Amino acid sequence: MTQEPGNNSKGYLQPYADVEWDSTGSPHSPDYGDIYWNPAQGVEEKRHVFLAANKLHERWVDRATSFAILELGFGFGLNCLLSAQLWQEVQTKPQGILNFISIEKHPVDLPALKKLYSALQDDGLKALASRLIDNYPVATSGTHLIWLSENICLTLILGEDVVALGEVNQEVDAIYLDGFSPGKNEQMWNRQVLSSLSTLCHAETTLSTYSVSGALRRGLTEAGFSIAKQPGYGRKREMLTAQFQAQAPRPVRANNPQKPIVIVGSGIAGLACAKSLQKRGLKVLMLEQAEQPISGASAISQLAVYPHISVRPDPFSIFSLSAFQYSLRENHANICGYRKFASNDAEVERLQRINNYFPDHFINYEQLNDQAYLTFESAAWLNVEEAYRTTLQRIELRTNTEVTGIEQSKDGWRLFGPEGSQITEAANVILATGYASLERLKPLGLNTNRGQAISIRTDKMRHSSINSSGRTLFPENKNGTRIFSATNSRESISTLPDASDTQKLASELQNRLGSPFEIVDEQVGIRCTTRDRIPVVGGLPSWQALDQYCIENRHRKVVDAFTGYENGLYVCTGFGAHGATHAPASGEFIARLICEEPTPTSWRGLLDPARFKLRDRNKQV
Ligand SMILES: Cc1cc2nc3c(=O)[nH]c(=O)nc-3n(C[C@H](O)[C@H](O)[C@H](O)COP(=O)(O)OP(=O)(O)OC[C@H]3O[C@@H](n4cnc5c(N)ncnc54)[C@H](O)[C@@H]3O)c2cc1C
Ligand SMILES: C[S@@+](CC[C@H](N)C(=O)[O-])C[C@H]1O[C@@H](n2cnc3c(N)ncnc32)[C@H](O)[C@@H]1O
Repeated sequence: MTQEPGNNSKGYLQPYADVEWDSTGSPHSPDYGDIYWNPAQGVEEKRHVFLAANKLHERWVDRATSFAILELGFGFGLNCLLSAQLWQEVQTKPQGILNFISIEKHPVDLPALKKLYSALQDDGLKALASRLIDNYPVATSGTHLIWLSENICLTLILGEDVVALGEVNQEVDAIYLDGFSPGKNEQMWNRQVLSSLSTLCHAETTLSTYSVSGALRRGLTEAGFSIAKQPGYGRKREMLTAQFQAQAPRPVRANNPQKPIVIVGSGIAGLACAKSLQKRGLKVLMLEQAEQPISGASAISQLAVYPHISVRPDPFSIFSLSAFQYSLRENHANICGYRKFASNDAEVERLQRINNYFPDHFINYEQLNDQAYLTFESAAWLNVEEAYRTTLQRIELRTNTEVTGIEQSKDGWRLFGPEGSQITEAANVILATGYASLERLKPLGLNTNRGQAISIRTDKMRHSSINSSGRTLFPENKNGTRIFSATNSRESISTLPDASDTQKLASELQNRLGSPFEIVDEQVGIRCTTRDRIPVVGGLPSWQALDQYCIENRHRKVVDAFTGYENGLYVCTGFGAHGATHAPASGEFIARLICEEPTPTSWRGLLDPARFKLRDRNKQV
């Protein structure tokens, strides 16, 4: 380990594992004094102890719904890849995904991952390993969502298992206990961990592990599992399987909704939701008030993708770092780097402090001719139309369709247009309407921030990264133009270009470049902002129920979780100036909510549309 685990609470990164290799090319951990797997027959052993023991083949044949596996100890992800390979071989139904959730305290670094998988012989496994390598995150703590194929998602939670288990909030179907052996790593197998696991089980949840230690057997039994010893692999005589004994059988997840899911709004937020729903084989009907899709703020032709990072790790920055990496993976964005210049001494210090948390290949502080700047090395820009072209092609899209009213019906929600006529009815509706405030969204108190950009052409510029010092200048796009953005106005919501804004941008750019350029067009968008600058993503509360809850819980610090959300009504907006970074992961989060799949608990609280009223409850008269 390059860093003591305890130090991590002060940083953004989870410390990497120290890995040593034996003469056969198998990894082991000097810190735990244990091997990652049986050096001679790692793959076969894992298939026996985890895949076969949980009867995955039998359970997946003809399965039409998603399946969730929870693993303690991601290591090199070999279990994950083997499970993914089996899912690809067995699962032929288009509905549902394999959600492989894995917890890891000391992730292996990318060179170690590459070293291990370079020796692979199996082509199917090789393809999955290369997806993992290409998409492997920088080890920022928290939850990373990584698609290994169209219908296999790895949810990698980087953190200590006891804490990380709190991030999982839906029942899982199978559990792999693959920490190092209990004798060498007691902490991983303690009672608190086993008892947390039991809260994530339903009547059909199975568990397996290679250890048959007495303490583990007692712990699992106490936690509600019935256990059985099975023949181990190779020279190991025994291993353990377990079945959760639910007192009353808990309901197993419902089938994914079959009817189209309605998304109102065709900006990056709506499209991100659509893309994630499509991965689950679900149909989408998208309603857009404008003549064309992507007509709101998402139409600005270059949007920067880079994370929000505070000088102290806070939940929003941790979310932002995961969402940033997700956006890069998902959108085939144009990676170019993002240089943020400091505008004063205080900012120099702030950038230096942020820089101290991260490796240089991720974030790097530099100084050039008296100018200090931070480079986000893997930052990118994206054009929403390009990034979501395939998603759009697969959607049923109705343009010129403004939704003005939403009413609950027997089967879900009825949506109405301006003349009061019904547009459609759906069990699940996502409001991705940007700043436009429908009556139902008014209690969110959304705000606007109008922005204008100019698209310019010049042959005098060489830099290929995004440069931001107050305003942002992008690298050239395919058409030979580039965006210079943006103005800010909280007063106006006019979507027409404003000549004085254009003038302001042009003279600033002239000063910056000192050479002429041609203005090709002016682009305007209205950003939707929230009180705490964090997006609002999730189930929409029943406002009446929430008001009642707030009255009942006034002046109480600790309260039971509010549960009065509308069934099948969701919101995904409030992205401010960071839609390109945060919307893709937010769309995935909503798809998981709709499909009743595990979602990161911390994201739920952070993005919760009920949060403003909950925070304000003590202020009410
Ligand atoms: C000049 C400028 C520069 C920016 N630069 C960046 C940047 O570099 N990086 C970045 O990440 N972000 C940037 N942003 C912000 C970014 O554009 C937004 O965060 C993002 O586009 C928001 O996407 P959205 O889908 O939530 O909203 P929108 O793109 O506004 O989409 C909402 C859609 O909903 C439709 N709609 C609304 N109400 C209804 C209704 N009742 N019925 C039917 N349809 C409806 C609208 O017509 C619209 O198409 C910038 C914004 C501006 C203005
Ligand atoms: C045997 S390896 C896992 C191998 C892995 N399943 C694979 O297929 O590649 C055990 C892993 O558990 C991790 N680990 C140990 N203690 C942990 C803890 N308390 N919380 C989370 N992970 C832990 C180790 O860092 C190590 O990567």
